[in-house]
Amino acid sequence: MTGKVITCRAAVAWGPNQPLVMEEVLVDPPQKMEVRIKILFTSICHTDLTAWKGENEAQRVYPRIFGHEASGVVESVGEGVEDMKEGDHVVPIFNGECGDCVYCKSEKSNLCQRFRVNPFKSVMASDGKCRFSTKQGNPIFHFLNTSTFSEYTVLDSACVVKIDSQAPLKEMTLLSCGASTGLGAAWNTANVQAGSSVAVFGLGAVGLAVVEGARTRRASKIIGIDINPNKLLKGQTMGITDFLNPKDLRKAVHEKIREMTNGGVDYSFECAGNLEVIREAFLSTHDGWGLTVVLGIHPTPRTLPLHPMELFDGRRITGSVFGDFKGKTQLPHFAEECMRQEVKLDEFITHELPFSEINEAFQLLVGGKSLRCLLHL
Ligand code: APR
Ligand code: ZN
Ligand code: ZN
Repeated sequence: MTGKVITCRAAVAWGPNQPLVMEEVLVDPPQKMEVRIKILFTSICHTDLTAWKGENEAQRVYPRIFGHEASGVVESVGEGVEDMKEGDHVVPIFNGECGDCVYCKSEKSNLCQRFRVNPFKSVMASDGKCRFSTKQGNPIFHFLNTSTFSEYTVLDSACVVKIDSQAPLKEMTLLSCGASTGLGAAWNTANVQAGSSVAVFGLGAVGLAVVEGARTRRASKIIGIDINPNKLLKGQTMGITDFLNPKDLRKAVHEKIREMTNGGVDYSFECAGNLEVIREAFLSTHDGWGLTVVLGIHPTPRTLPLHPMELFDGRRITGSVFGDFKGKTQLPHFAEECMRQEVKLDEFITHELPFSEINEAFQLLVGGKSLRCLLHL
């Protein structure tokens, strides 16, 4: 199909909170420095959920194809793409890496000037147009550089990572967002040290990936915090040593954690997307050196719930995008580490459904029943 328009199925969003509609769409051939891929697996992350609900007004662009966690094979490449060819196994990345800009050339950042994650962007970077259209010829908008809820999608090559053809694609889907975000936050952003103490707020896929990152770094105490008591069991499988449910406590979570850890944990991670949780996470760390990493997505307009003077107690706070991984450069190596079973990726896949049942998969996440429901295309 090189150079030709493909007709395929996609799950199209027509409005906030409306069930996605499975319909035939047209997918244009990849343009210069673009890649068209056949998606084999995709899953739903909390960020898709937030976008689907249309919580952020500026994001309400319809019709649109959501989805950013996936794996697949290259169908065809556009002019100038040299690092990939038809048949290569790939994972899309919502936080791209062009390799050329001042950010990509810096070791201090994984935010590319052109392809950094941007929830407001809904067209291709090269020409400001859409590669998807309805059968009537109207544009369907893109999402997070990826739009993976479609049998075929077109991405900038900066947002596609080639991985080992032997890597199990099902599990590799998690590298596209959840696993990389959480593990990377523990490994790269916080650089968790052996023997240290860690508190993880929110035990969804992102939080549990942080737990996995802390476990593989041999942290000695890993406290999981969640308002859903059903998260205890999975948390223990992934390596938490203690579990706290804020609803069962008579005191603030940070007070309890400070008691349990002689003054506070070395690192805390906010993976719930809740402002009060940010404050609890911040106060849970030890003064003098504690570090809080924010991973949750918070709708605007919000500001950090901290008094500036609190920073003089030596606690630090920072955010982490895509686990501070430079996607194209570092993900192939990360995939190899996962293949050597150093990371338990299969534990994140709690459900599997055919692509046609995508709305059921959304409900599993809404109800807190799934970590990741893998959709088969
Ligand atoms: N305190 C503790 N845990 C909470 C709280 C709270 N106040 N509120 C929610 N949680 C828990 C939920 O019970 C759930 O287990 O946080 C978890 C969030 O998990 P998921 O919904 O599965 O989301 P996930 O995909 O892991 O993403 C987490 O990171 O990337 C962002 O947008 C994403 O903000 C989201 C966060
Ligand atoms: Zn995500
Ligand atoms: Zn760049």
